[in-house]
Formats: sequence, structure tokens, C-alpha cells
Amino acid sequence: MEIRRQEAVVMNTECVSVEGLSVSYLSPTGRVDALRNVSFKLYDGELVTIVGPSGCGKTTLLNAIAGLLNFRKDVLMSGKIFVKNPKSIGYVFQRDALLPWRTVIENVTLGLEVRKFPEEKRKKVALDLLKMVGLEGYENKYPHELSAGMRQRVALARAIAYDPEFILMDEPLGLLDAQTRMALQDEILRIHMKTRKTILMVTHDIAEAIILGSRVLVMNSRPGSVKSEYVVKLPKPRSALGSRLDPEFNRLYRLILDDLKEDMRMGQLDLL
Ligand SMILES: Nc1ncnc2c1ncn2[C@@H]1O[C@H](COP(=O)(O)OP(=O)(O)OP(=O)(O)O)[C@@H](O)[C@H]1O
Ligand SMILES: [Mg+2]
Repeated sequence: MEIRRQEAVVMNTECVSVEGLSVSYLSPTGRVDALRNVSFKLYDGELVTIVGPSGCGKTTLLNAIAGLLNFRKDVLMSGKIFVKNPKSIGYVFQRDALLPWRTVIENVTLGLEVRKFPEEKRKKVALDLLKMVGLEGYENKYPHELSAGMRQRVALARAIAYDPEFILMDEPLGLLDAQTRMALQDEILRIHMKTRKTILMVTHDIAEAIILGSRVLVMNSRPGSVKSEYVVKLPKPRSALGSRLDPEFNRLYRLILDDLKEDMRMGQLDLL
């Protein structure tokens, strides 16, 4: 009974709505149209993934949703973006934005300090999360002492730490080796099952998009828009390995790959 009620809520409440969003950058060398007429919705508690060719505007899209492009003189934006609770957004940036002068644990507790969590509680939350992302024992290191993949894991822990309702993730596992990557995919699935946060995640890995997403949005090349959407009907609870062995995974993988390839061919024709 309980589960059914939750699912009904998941289907109905809009968390994010993007309607006819277009974004262009203006620079001294000219104008770049990054996004054209992007529309989609996210419902509460969904984990939706985005794949698309490099440079098609994925980061631009996340930045626009996070409100980071507002008021920028070099950015032209039109369309509508609705976020239910804009004050409660976590963002794992494509390039980790750790503060170099703060230790690992101090980076993770950043958002908790801003929200005036007591020190003991901050420390406990941060240590639990660092353990979860496999960085136990690294809490007093500085970012420059870590590998790129480790820094990415710190950034992931930091985005989750202050418990935002909605999390944007821009290729958060991009720099990890295959094994750590699968472990963290399982971790993201587990966190999502447990907390029911709404997550929008960009990845360049089709397999990852299918394993994690309840829907996969495919973008076409620049100026990017959402060209297709695939509903992933893999059984729950999911695991990274279990999903890969499911025939539904292969079916979707082929479809999405063909979809992306089609766009690449068109992109190449553009160049002729
Ligand atoms: N500040 C900027 N000024 C001018 N052009 C920009 C700026 N930021 C991004 N662009 C351009 O906008 C387009 C979209 O960039 P964006 O970073 O959103 O793509 P992306 O899909 O995230 O790429 P990737 O997969 O490589 O991360 C690119 O052509 C890029 O060169
Ligand atoms: Mg990007």
C-alpha cells in the first residue's frame, strides 16, 4: 500500500519543467547557439539521465536549470525553466569545483556550514559520506593530493551532504576506472532508492544512462535539443551488473546507440 502511494506521488508532482529553452553564448569571436528549443519535465523522485554528443549543450542545460546563467551579459536565453525548490539544488560539476585551500572533509561540510549545522553533526555526516564513496582515511588531505577520480568522489559526497531535494550531476563518474565506476553506480542507485531524490544526470556512457535512469533523454548535436526519450523498464531494485545482463538493457543500448550515430552522420554531413 505504502509503495503504491509513493509511486502515485512520483508520477504526478513536477519537480522541474523546461519549456522551449534556447541558449546562445555571445563572444568577441561570434555567437554560439548552444541549445535550441529544449523541452522536458522531471517528476519528483525520478532519476533521469541525459546522453548526447560532446559539445551539444548538456553542461549548458544543467547550468541553466541551476540558475547559473541568469544575469550573464554574454548569455542570451529564452524559454521557461521551472524548478520547484530552487534553493534546494545540489550540483556535481563536470570539472570538480573543490576549494583547494580546504581539506577533503572541509569541502564536504561546506554546504552544512552555510546551513548552520552543529559541528559534531557536520563531521558525522561528512565521514559517513566519505566512507560511502570509498575515501575513508582521506578526510584531512587537500584536493591537490588526490587523483582526479578521488576529487570527483569528494564532489559527489559534497553534493549529497546537505540533503538537497534535487541533484544535478554532470558526468560525475567520468574519470573513474570501470570497477570503481560500477561500485558508485550501485551507490547512486542505493541512495536514490533510499532518499527518493530527484536526480538529473549527464553521462557520455550509454550503459550508465540505462543502468541508472528511469528515462534516458537523448540530445542531438549543437544547437542541442532533446531528440528522443527512452523509458527504461528494468526490474527494481537495480544493480549495475544485474542490469547489464538483462535483455532489455541490450535492446535499449542498440536503440540509443543508433539514435546517437544517426546524429553523428548528420553532423558529419554538416561539415561537407
Ligand atoms: N562561455 C562560453 N562561451 C562561448 N561558448 C561556450 C561557452 N560555454 C560553452 N560554449 C559552447 O557551447 C556549446 C555547448 O557547450 P557545453 O559545455 O554545454 O557542451 P557539453 O554537451 O556539455 O559538452 P561535453 O560533452 O564536451 O561536456 C559548445 O559548442 C561550447 O563550445
Ligand atoms: Mg559538458
